[in-house]
Amino acid sequence: MTRSNPRLTLALSLALPLATALLAASAPGARADDDLAERGKALSRQHCARCHVVAPDDRMTGISSTPSFMILVEALDDWRERFATFHARLPHPAHLRFEGDAERPDTQPATIAEVILRYEDVEAIVAYAERLHGE
Ligand code: HEC
Repeated sequence: MTRSNPRLTLALSLALPLATALLAASAPGARADDDLAERGKALSRQHCARCHVVAPDDRMTGISSTPSFMILVEALDDWRERFATFHARLPHPAHLRFEGDAERPDTQPATIAEVILRYEDVEAIVAYAERLHGE
């Protein structure tokens, strides 16, 4: 006859979530990925939020004709590719360059504030998009 031992059941029901939590906390790279995504979020708020809504808790920023980051990562199958190459996609080349690139000629309209990124910033922004996609 099998009668479940309540103490054993309790111990098991606690052990599994605990083990999962410990594993998640010690998974190599988990912490680093999270830091990268956080940096991507900060960069997005700083550089992208004047056009895009970049986070679910920032609905009042951005301009409505520009797709939100949440829409982009949900609606597009190739969102990862698009985030990795956004800097080459219109309209971004008009206001963005990388550190070390030649300065723009002064023919730029003065109304567009220029954004200067580093290449590794794109990696952080993709990590942030990845986190948004998972939410
Ligand atoms: C000056 C306004 C503006 C800023 C600033 C801006 N974007 Fe955009 N972005 C747009 C518009 C408008 C579109 C939609 C373009 C279209 O549909 O053709 C877009 C589209 C995109 C897309 C989809 C591209 C595609 O081809 O589908 C990505 C990804 C993106 N932006 C990422 C970013 C990131 C990351 C930043 C900040 C580093 C940023 N954007 C800053 C205006 C902006």
